[in-house]
Amino acid sequence: MDGIGVCARRWRVAWLCALVTSASPVLADEVPSFRKTIQPMLDTYCVSCHLQGSAPEDLVLQRGSAYRQLVGIASVQSTLKRVMPGDPQASYLLHKLTGDQLSVGGKGVAMPFGQAQADTQLIQAVQAWIASGAPNN
Ligand code: HEC
Repeated sequence: MDGIGVCARRWRVAWLCALVTSASPVLADEVPSFRKTIQPMLDTYCVSCHLQGSAPEDLVLQRGSAYRQLVGIASVQSTLKRVMPGDPQASYLLHKLTGDQLSVGGKGVAMPFGQAQADTQLIQAVQAWIASGAPNN
């Protein structure tokens, strides 16, 4: 992709480039960054409970631990992996966020616990990130 290069070389279209690049935080064909996009949302919505030492279901979602505790790891509540790279439907994390964990043989309530529903940006980012192989990016 040479979008930035085009923006820099062709000042006439620079305004358009600025518009496009600022419009959507998670572009459809872009792999969301685990570190820059997903982890900050885990910090905001999840880490108050999923904290070292007292984490429910032994799931620590703090920076430095979250990736290791999610990707390829068996979930406690279901027979699915927490995150199955490349397969959002086989990833229990996504079902806990969308609230359909019971339909895949899971347990408990939707996450974040006690909230009506998870942030849409978080759900979309997690889905796109898993679909693209759940890289440690
Ligand atoms: C207020 C505390 C609290 C918050 C905030 C919270 N959780 Fe949880 N989480 C729990 C509890 C308690 C359980 C076990 C009971 C249940 O699932 O209903 C759990 C279970 C889970 C499980 C199941 C783990 C497994 O291996 O089966 C996942 C996945 C999960 N949480 C992800 C998240 C994510 C992602 C967030 C943030 C969007 C989050 N949680 C926010 C308390 C919380």
